[in-house]
Amino acid sequence: MRCKLIAGNWKMNGSVECIRGLLEEIRKGAVTIPSVELAVFPPFVYLGLVEQQLSGTAISWGTQNISEYASGPYTGEVAGQMLRDFNCQYAIVGHSERRALYGESDQIVARKFAAALELGIKPILCVGETLEEREEGVTERVIERQIRAVLDLGGIGSFSDAVIAYEPVWAIGTGKTATSEQAQEVHSFIRSKLAVHDMMFPADQVRILYGGSMKPANARELLAMPDVDGGLIGGASLEAKEFLAIAKACG
Ligand code: PGA
Repeated sequence: MRCKLIAGNWKMNGSVECIRGLLEEIRKGAVTIPSVELAVFPPFVYLGLVEQQLSGTAISWGTQNISEYASGPYTGEVAGQMLRDFNCQYAIVGHSERRALYGESDQIVARKFAAALELGIKPILCVGETLEEREEGVTERVIERQIRAVLDLGGIGSFSDAVIAYEPVWAIGTGKTATSEQAQEVHSFIRSKLAVHDMMFPADQVRILYGGSMKPANARELLAMPDVDGGLIGGASLEAKEFLAIAKACG
């Protein structure tokens, strides 16, 4: 049985004051939904605050990015060991905004994925096609390529401690969500690829999240699909009520 994960990607939003308020409400609400794992992903500079507010609760936290390097002359980057210092359980890698705006290739993303795993941080690998790719009918090919880069570098075993997030680029921040059927189709494709790669690998234990304009109004339908194991939530994770309503829709 895969425990559902509702992850809030705050992107470049927040302030000390608003994070305090947001986490207080999330903490209160989380106790009423113990069967769902909640996680938040603040900008790096707020990790200390988030750790302070969430230590001892069941809520997890992590980062939106991680350096592929361990240390050294990489101005502006943050290494995995630094994330360990703040007890991060997760790191998002390969978000489409990182791929599109900061030139992260499949290979860079695979190295970031490996860097996280090496330190015992669970990577959340984001994959997804653009609108153009969907219209060209190459969605599966794109996702297979994004996953293959990680398989080539770390092997199938690296997915035992990882999460995958299917985020169609055309649905991120646009208000356009994939239908539950479209999401299920891609999620089951991803799972089948992991299974086919190695028949012995327990692909049915890997959590695959959906991301892209998930809101309380569409969450229940998406989360009811057999291969949708949670959500990676952007906009709606900045409002405690919406974030918690999505988590409640898991049940
Ligand atoms: P959104 O973002 O929920 O605002 O579409 C999702 C994401 O980018 O992870």
